[in-house]
Amino acid sequence: MNKELQLSTDKAYTFVAESAIETYKNRAEAANQALHDGKGKGNDFLGWLRLPGEISEAHLADIETTAALLRRECEVVVVIGIGGSYLGAKAVIDALSNTFDWLQTKRTTPAIVYAGQNISEDYLFELQELLKTKRFGIISISKSGTTTEPAIAFRLLSKQLEEQQGTDAARRLIVAITDKARGALHTLTKLRGYKSYVIEDNIGGRFSVFSPVGLLPIAVAGHDIKALVQGAVRMQTRCEPAVPYGQNPACQYAVARNILYNAGKKIEILVNFHPKLHCLAEWWKQLYGESEGKEHKGIFPAAVDFTTDLHSMGQWIQQGERTIFETMISVAQPNYEKRIPFDADNLDGLNFIAQRRVDEVNKMAELGTMLAHLDGEVPCLKITLPQLNAGYIGELLYFFEKACGISGYLLDVNPFDQPGVEAYKKNMFALLDKPGFEEASKAIKAQLSEV
Ligand code: PA5
Repeated sequence: MNKELQLSTDKAYTFVAESAIETYKNRAEAANQALHDGKGKGNDFLGWLRLPGEISEAHLADIETTAALLRRECEVVVVIGIGGSYLGAKAVIDALSNTFDWLQTKRTTPAIVYAGQNISEDYLFELQELLKTKRFGIISISKSGTTTEPAIAFRLLSKQLEEQQGTDAARRLIVAITDKARGALHTLTKLRGYKSYVIEDNIGGRFSVFSPVGLLPIAVAGHDIKALVQGAVRMQTRCEPAVPYGQNPACQYAVARNILYNAGKKIEILVNFHPKLHCLAEWWKQLYGESEGKEHKGIFPAAVDFTTDLHSMGQWIQQGERTIFETMISVAQPNYEKRIPFDADNLDGLNFIAQRRVDEVNKMAELGTMLAHLDGEVPCLKITLPQLNAGYIGELLYFFEKACGISGYLLDVNPFDQPGVEAYKKNMFALLDKPGFEEASKAIKAQLSEV
């Protein structure tokens, strides 16, 4: 068994000219170098680039201490945040946790639930009802400290925590992760004396999973953050500019994506065969969507869970418009063993796979799907993880981050800003008559009366 993440691009390149790879290869190496030299677009947001290798034992120990306190004192920990402020943590926690953990009555770690990632009144009502009978804590994450969705959730839930468990408990069981000097969450933290961690200025939300934004919730959920970071460090080393293209998976993935995009493949579908990876795809969608979708350019990142979605989206992928390519995440070894039992009656006709492992069937579904999709002219990239554990997830996350930076430079956009995200906020504030938005309010109301 291979002991590290593997990327295979050969099944994608049957659809493109060899010469395109040569050209892009040199450009990718230059883009990787530009990231490291801080000479590309958005170079004030490169704090993530060397982050895994810079994390100290003392920092990890401090996060572990805070996590241990929350684990000891809470039945439920609510992680409040939106976008990059919660997706990385949820991606890792879901990938590494027992799928049915939330149903366990005897838990060894608090249940992790999320808030501030939507503005649904019913969601918040139901969450608060659940928490009425629980001893809970809060990790509130917002880099700007002013994002509306998490601010609403924090106002509701911090009040509930104080009322239910008292102000001393609230001070102990609320942890804030925010800017070092600015924003409402920073102000509240200072005034109320919460334990806090800083999100550095040069780390954008979607690149923050190896900062306390990701590490604290992951540690509270009981996962090995040291192994996660070590995995990321291994990948950091494998993707350095000094590593030639042939051995550099981040450069190879960035090149494949851009070649396929230029060949008319405008949609990339990230495919998994394990439901635990569903949220990892949500994190990946944000990473690539927010980094590349600008200046009227960029691959649209989509995701499916197989074999589940083979029974829904499978038809479109096989025979719909040929503007897609796939990136499959394959896990070489399952963590547990389960064989299909023999049945003397064989009424279900399954004895042809009796005594074989469920994973063998899953793997044949994976191979069968790839071959079918290649026949259907869908280029396929494949990422193989040896196993689902913290180290390999760390490798995968850093691999995607590094490739995203390189890929954004190949597309000639700034992969580290997100100006488009502001448009809906401006309209929402204008519609809600937020102070400071008076002119926008008048304009939007005039616009509405014309409709
Ligand atoms: O990647 C990003 O920068 C965004 O998704 C942000 O993380 C998200 O908008 C939340 O912002 P904040 O952390 O400032 O509340």
